[in-house]
Amino acid sequence: MDAFPDYSLREVAQQVGTPCYVYDRGRIEQNYARLVSALLPHPSVGRICYSVKANSNLSVLRLLHNLGAGFDVVSIGELRRVLLAGAAPADVVFAGVGKREDELIAALDAGAGWINVESPQELHALSDLACARGRVQQVALRINPNVDPHTHRHMATGTGTSKFGIEIEQALALVARRNDYPGVAINGIHVHIGSMVNEVAPYEDAARVALDVITRCRELGATITTLNLGGGFGVAYRPDQPEAPIEAIAEAVWPPIRRAGVQVLFEPGRAIVADAGVLLTRVLYTKANGGVNYVVVDAGMNDLIRPALYGAVHGVSLVSRVSEMSEVSRVSVVGPVCESGDVLAEGVLLPVLQRGDLLVIHHAGAYGMSMASNYNTRPRAAEVLLQGDAWRVIRPREAIEALWAPEVECLYQADS
Ligand code: LLP
Repeated sequence: MDAFPDYSLREVAQQVGTPCYVYDRGRIEQNYARLVSALLPHPSVGRICYSVKANSNLSVLRLLHNLGAGFDVVSIGELRRVLLAGAAPADVVFAGVGKREDELIAALDAGAGWINVESPQELHALSDLACARGRVQQVALRINPNVDPHTHRHMATGTGTSKFGIEIEQALALVARRNDYPGVAINGIHVHIGSMVNEVAPYEDAARVALDVITRCRELGATITTLNLGGGFGVAYRPDQPEAPIEAIAEAVWPPIRRAGVQVLFEPGRAIVADAGVLLTRVLYTKANGGVNYVVVDAGMNDLIRPALYGAVHGVSLVSRVSEMSEVSRVSVVGPVCESGDVLAEGVLLPVLQRGDLLVIHHAGAYGMSMASNYNTRPRAAEVLLQGDAWRVIRPREAIEALWAPEVECLYQADS
């Protein structure tokens, strides 16, 4: 059964309005179950820690918590979200290349299961903060494995010159001097090579590099229990695109992991939620300029920035209407934002559209709403969760007054 039946989408558009994100609970559950069965040969050997940045709606987090997921968070905000959703602090991996002191304190005070450390200075700061609280915090060192994930350059994080992680020799030097850092227990090694990775080899290489580091840490006397292999599994945004061969990746990485005798954490975001979400939008106007057919819709780059930011291609389709389908035409689907880059889909074939038609932008469940902004003082879209034929609003459309309310409170009176 189609996860997003047209009659439900029409009902949602009518009652909630557009633009609106719509997520399918069943698809999220299926995606999570597939990852667990493919990536974890046995539940006791590791955990899926969902990467909250992909879609941080509380109801989505609650759903994943109920399914047994842990969480990868990168800010106080994400930490507080997962705790609100019901996660135990021990289920949380607190990551991020630039954690402020208040964020380290929040992670320590909450009792985060892991803090992933990305620089020698951060390890120092964290150890001092933990000591001051009489705590020993479990940490993983994020290493820079210098592996090319063959993805968009904005999504590669594990190449030698990227800002992420610690150079391997530096990480080993920290492990050798671990007695200088009594507030931390370095029990893990973390790698994340990038996003939209569709090949086995980069994961195999990253695992090999990380396991080699683990061997060397152990030679230095450290107790390494855990390898965090990150996320980044690619999904097919178009039928002709590849997707990450997750089963083959697991087959390649597990034999050496088993030999090393470590637990494994994976941090997928997109692979759990991308195809479980669509952006529902309504056609405002159609017109032709210089031979280009434009369809102006009510969702813009502030709602879904991926096409403008990465040249990402999302499928677009028409929610069926009562009147007969006419012939097709090639159109660019553009948003209302005052930027030439506000193009949601370029040169796509769609039935000839009319004002008021409903369009669906596919694979918008990951990095859609979580990257939305208020640019052009536009309220962020509503979010709806479908379950079979039933649906419910899981975040109402932002009230327009909420966009300026904090400024009204401290309005600068230039003339007084
Ligand atoms: N772990 C770490 C350390 C990460 O930095 C990320 C994503 C993930 C896990 C989850 O990656 P995933 O499985 O979702 O690919 N905004 C971009 C993607 C940037 C991802 C940033 N980090 C997009 O719209 O495609």
